[in-house]
Amino acid sequence: MPRIKNYVDTSDFTKEELLDILNLGLLIKENIKAGYPLNVLYHKTLGMIFEQASTRTRVSFETAMTQLGGHAQYLAPGQIQLGKHETFYDTAKVLSRLVDILMARVQKHDTIVNLAKNADIPVINGMSDYNHPTQEMGDITTMFEHLPAGKRFEDCKVVFVGDATQVCASLMMIVTKLGGHFVHFGPKGFQLNEHFREIARKNCEVSGGSFLVTDDEEAIVGADFIYTDVWYGLYEAELSEEERKSIFYPKYQVDMDMMKKAGPNAKFMHCLPATRGEEVTDEVMDSDVSIAFDQAENRLTSIRALLVYFMDKMEETTAICKKNLGK
Ligand code: CP
Repeated sequence: MPRIKNYVDTSDFTKEELLDILNLGLLIKENIKAGYPLNVLYHKTLGMIFEQASTRTRVSFETAMTQLGGHAQYLAPGQIQLGKHETFYDTAKVLSRLVDILMARVQKHDTIVNLAKNADIPVINGMSDYNHPTQEMGDITTMFEHLPAGKRFEDCKVVFVGDATQVCASLMMIVTKLGGHFVHFGPKGFQLNEHFREIARKNCEVSGGSFLVTDDEEAIVGADFIYTDVWYGLYEAELSEEERKSIFYPKYQVDMDMMKKAGPNAKFMHCLPATRGEEVTDEVMDSDVSIAFDQAENRLTSIRALLVYFMDKMEETTAICKKNLGK
């Protein structure tokens, strides 16, 4: 049984719990790639509330449920009563009677907190204006698959370039929790705020990791992973193209010169969708150093594991996969 019912924030979980989920995801991936069926969520239903558009998150959750023998219902923006004619409390209580597990992508973090608090079933955060925890798990899975030869994750430097989006905050939370070395290289006014820096400090005290927030481009040197996200600004503060470029371009655009400055083995990451020509050039996106599409695939890898974990099927699933794979 998971210690915590919901996946709203990785800060609620220990390093060991997060590594268990990560490793479960890799085991299920190997099992599925080897062609073994896995019906551990047979006849289970996932409700998927989306207040915003999504490609990777929506498709990963739906595909994951199909591959695990269950079913997912897409509850599209404006097509359910939540937030208009029905309260969060009533929605949470009703959906708890109709489905087995919920995920929600929401405009406001309070919405996911309310759903999680009031639902009687597990609730997974599919992104809010505060964080993107399922992205975190896919990202860390991708880094583990692409560790530089001879290095442990705890020896790696992860540099996020650009705007302090919720993806930047989430990356900081998981990298510092797992003992890695995190840098946010971004312009003043668009850097991780004191709230997030305090989380980073606390994580590093426990994990032995480190963090730095800076606008000094020398911080890129020696990076194992260079990660960026769009420059839109967050939600209400969304910027025009002209404003974005005046703040971030060219210093914070990831191009081949930046990748070379990072070092010969640095990999490029992006949560996607990318605005090619803004935060990243085509040349980097389409190069051998880019692992952005592996990252997109690992949304599915980690979401399968999260569904299994929060539906309390971890032991059963591990046993089946190990038997199938002869481990
Ligand atoms: N990275 C990510 O969350 O993609 P979507 O918005 O397409 O789900």
